[in-house]
Amino acid sequence: MKELIQSLLEQTLESLKAQGIVPADFEARIQVDRTKDKSHGDLATNLAMMLTKVAGKPPRELAQLIIDNLPASAQVAKVDIAGPGFINFFIDENALANQLKAAIGDAMLGVKAAAPQTVVVDYSSPNLAKEMHVGHLRSTIIGDSVVRALEFLGNNVIRQNHVGDWGTQFGMLLAYMEELRAQGGDKANLELSDLESFYRAAKLRFDESDAFATRARALVVELQSGDEYCNKLWREFNDISLSHCHDVYARLGVSLTRKDVHGESAYNADLAQVVTDLDAKGLLAISDGAKVVFQEEFRNKDGEPLPVIIQKADGGFLYATTDLAAMRYRSGTLNADRVLYFVDLRQALHFQQVFSLARTAGFVRENMTLEHMGFGTMNGEDGRPFKTRSGGVVKLVDLLDEAVERAEQLVRSKNPDMDEAEVKEIARVVGIASVKYADLSKNRSSDYIFSFEQMLSFEGNTAPYLLYAYTRVAGIFKKADNIDLANAELVLEHDKEKELGNKLAQFGEILARMVDKGQPHILCGYLYELAGAFSSFYEACPVLSADSDVARNSRLLLSRLTADTLKQGLSLLGIETLERM
Ligand code: ARG
Repeated sequence: MKELIQSLLEQTLESLKAQGIVPADFEARIQVDRTKDKSHGDLATNLAMMLTKVAGKPPRELAQLIIDNLPASAQVAKVDIAGPGFINFFIDENALANQLKAAIGDAMLGVKAAAPQTVVVDYSSPNLAKEMHVGHLRSTIIGDSVVRALEFLGNNVIRQNHVGDWGTQFGMLLAYMEELRAQGGDKANLELSDLESFYRAAKLRFDESDAFATRARALVVELQSGDEYCNKLWREFNDISLSHCHDVYARLGVSLTRKDVHGESAYNADLAQVVTDLDAKGLLAISDGAKVVFQEEFRNKDGEPLPVIIQKADGGFLYATTDLAAMRYRSGTLNADRVLYFVDLRQALHFQQVFSLARTAGFVRENMTLEHMGFGTMNGEDGRPFKTRSGGVVKLVDLLDEAVERAEQLVRSKNPDMDEAEVKEIARVVGIASVKYADLSKNRSSDYIFSFEQMLSFEGNTAPYLLYAYTRVAGIFKKADNIDLANAELVLEHDKEKELGNKLAQFGEILARMVDKGQPHILCGYLYELAGAFSSFYEACPVLSADSDVARNSRLLLSRLTADTLKQGLSLLGIETLERM
């Protein structure tokens, strides 16, 4: 309940800022305390006193303004001003119990969705010329979790896997593919099963043989001019590369399908038009023969203007050109309200530049938002970008294999008598969950250190802790499945029951915050706290051996909702649960 009041006050403060009553840059640490004397309500805040200086108004007057701007909540029965300007909150316990009661057995767990929006989510988006590596892990799983939560809240979500399937490096790859095929047999397909070494071998041929390099360049030209043979080769290559991606998605439990692939090449036909339209708006300049756009606000540290390059001197288009075409499509054809880009923070400048240019050029509707949901780097234990011992890129599949292997040792050591098949299945779930959760539970914009030991620990905010917590709650029902709860009442008497109830009631607002900010760690933190609230409740309040049937049934209801919320929450993170581990 403390958090509920806290969050109501945060919203109030925002509206006071919007009305100019409180300066917009004022950072308040809102304090909410439990009252000692219940005649002063359940909770109180000194916020009005804290604001009096910056707002230049007496505290009691501010207290009234706060109350006037407080969002309505069924859980707050009454609000009072006391003494010099304290605000006291009286909590309606019936309202809370009723809210929880309604959530039990509801498919949405009582979560009320806001007006649905069309949200385009650009995520995963690897380059098909190479194997997916750890750098693609973050985009893929953070994006997928936000997608799931957006859909759960009733939005129309359009996934866009904006794969890099175009560019000069394809000439080299196709030339190599052609060469291997000419040698007959299965060699090409065999080598394509490891894209990383295929790329390296092709690059080697390109560097050592002039004839090969000439052929590679010729293939690019033919590809771009729509030559059928060349396009067939290119489609075959992409198909194989994409099937590698989808193997990884399947292992990770990521919801992307082949239908969501809308790669760079999909915009080829519009690129010349992008140039024409920018030109018609008078935005283009020529710099070293290339067509570029200068925008006043983008300059390097020496104050020199930073252009967006639209078309190279040789006629080739660039990453930015494709992104401009993609924004136009997402606005005009997909009719998005929001477009979210889950892409490495190192591309922040690129997105600032193309977003601003798309607006200036009128390529996107004004009421459509463009949001770069940037993420930091996944580092190794040495604090540097994650590499293999020999310094190479870590393939995603190898990383997942190792996580599952380590989880298997862990599961076996905890359950020496468990049968082999079950050990393997639990290890698969725990291993994958650990990799995903370790990533999702961090604020996405910070760098983080990848550590198998930490992610597989049963202590702290980890996947094993939460999965285990879920099995404990769900386990209660193994011994209670003959108890009929159809007419059970939910009564919140004990403090720990109230605290757990309050946590459960926050699920909806947590999800709303998570999808607004594109930050799955908000949900992770919540689930961790929920598991903690449950374990304090379970310690203080016996469930199956409660004093009365009424108390037992009520506690079973609370346990039911906890289990369902944990399971649903984990599923929105793209994490499977286990009934036993
Ligand atoms: N293919 C790019 C990369 O691997 C990411 C693409 C992100 N999406 C976009 N619309 N630019 O870096």
